[in-house]
Amino acid sequence: IIAAFRPKILANKRVLVTAGPTFEPIDPVRGITNLSSGKMGYAIARAARQAGAEVTLVSGPTGLPAPYGVHRINVQTAQQMHDVVLSRAAGHEIFVAVAAVADWRIANASAQKLKKNEAGDVPQLQFEPNPDILAAVASLQNKPYCVGFAAESENLLEYGEAKRKRKGIPLLVGNIGHQTFGKDENELVLFDDKGHQSLPRADKQELARQLIGEIAARI
Ligand code: CTP
Ligand code: CA
Repeated sequence: IIAAFRPKILANKRVLVTAGPTFEPIDPVRGITNLSSGKMGYAIARAARQAGAEVTLVSGPTGLPAPYGVHRINVQTAQQMHDVVLSRAAGHEIFVAVAAVADWRIANASAQKLKKNEAGDVPQLQFEPNPDILAAVASLQNKPYCVGFAAESENLLEYGEAKRKRKGIPLLVGNIGHQTFGKDENELVLFDDKGHQSLPRADKQELARQLIGEIAARI
């Protein structure tokens, strides 16, 4: 159906979405990042907007154009994503965390470009943990309905339910990540307090529409 004629199941709802990878600098010209095209998060932001929601998309570097009618805020690091999300989360009914957030950042990042030396020394990088954005939002007093994503490489059914409980969220969406990164198709497993349910392999935009339907039915 043409988007305009679909029922506006999220009318009058404000939806906050994170998408894409984060980028953690090592020095001004280098950094570490996660594998994520941003396609699934952007598809969810688009589907939420088509369902009538007011959508804010907090995005790491993806190179994707902002979906029509979606307010996008660009960030680089996990800390920046955290700060933008936490300053806005309480004003939203729904938060969908799709971003592949770097779990660690470089504690001793250099303000100057690191140079090779004659001895062939290699940089000694130290890591420190990034804040967990989803867990922080899920522990707010005035929290939105929180949806997490988990890209696992194995044991999806077991890890998915464990992660949902650990994050303290009502809905977690799992997939076998590395098989779908950058692709236009995906297949999802939804975990909630009643168990799990599969959304079979389909185009990411179609899966995003189905997921928005599942979220709307739960709020
Ligand atoms: N997430 C987040 N902030 C982080 C790490 C993860 O908001 N610092 C969110 C992701 O956007 C996703 C969910 O938490 O919605 C699960 O991310 P995942 O990396 O699978 O979980 P982790 O708790 O980081 O566990 P691990 O990477 O060890 O499997
Ligand atoms: Ca992680």
